[in-house]
Amino acid sequence: MFNTTAWNRLRYSLYAPVYDLVVARAFRRARRLALDAVHWRQGQRVLLIGAGTGLDLPCLPRDVEIHAIDISPLMLARLEARADRYGLDVIASTMDAARLDYPDAHFDVVVMHLIVAVMPDPQAGLREAHRVLVEDGQLCVMDKFQSDARPAGVVRRLVNVVTSFLATDITRQARPLLEGAGFVVEHDTPVMMGTLFRALLARKA
Ligand SMILES: C[S@@+](CC[C@H](N)C(=O)[O-])C[C@H]1O[C@@H](n2cnc3c(N)ncnc32)[C@H](O)[C@@H]1O
Repeated sequence: MFNTTAWNRLRYSLYAPVYDLVVARAFRRARRLALDAVHWRQGQRVLLIGAGTGLDLPCLPRDVEIHAIDISPLMLARLEARADRYGLDVIASTMDAARLDYPDAHFDVVVMHLIVAVMPDPQAGLREAHRVLVEDGQLCVMDKFQSDARPAGVVRRLVNVVTSFLATDITRQARPLLEGAGFVVEHDTPVMMGTLFRALLARKA
């Protein structure tokens, strides 16, 4: 499968100017449902992984400390412009989700929206999310997943050759991935297109 971090950096840099046009409205409800499941408290330190153009920013509480990382500086430039428009202080850094430059147990909440199905090695990203979360920290995931009950069939795997090259993998299974990285899933709700897109809230096991 042709999906590498270098390819993601290139393609998302190319998509950056049109990303909001395609994604903003379509995912507004799904990202809100996902973030509404988080137990928010004043002063929490929050990390957006694969933060993109910052479409999650308007859905976050105002009284938390927001950090955002992405592999594409062009996506992050748009995030910073959005943060300015909303009057938010966001600490944004270009970084690979598979190698986070943060100490252990540094964040109260980690948000991974539309990135678990995009990264070439989602397990590496989830293990890093686990490492940087405090003991009772929360992981908020929203993405497209294959049913946990059965692996993707032949047709889906064939279609996946195209979708994973252009945008995203459609064969990944949420619970095996999250549990394999050491998380316990607390909430798991379909949020869009039947059960294709799910919002999951997880904590460290
Ligand atoms: C589909 S977009 C999702 C953006 C945003 N989270 C959202 O919900 O709109 C995927 C994002 O992940 C970023 N990305 C892909 N691979 C990455 C990696 N290894 N580390 C950090 N960011 C990555 C891309 O640059 C892109 O901005």
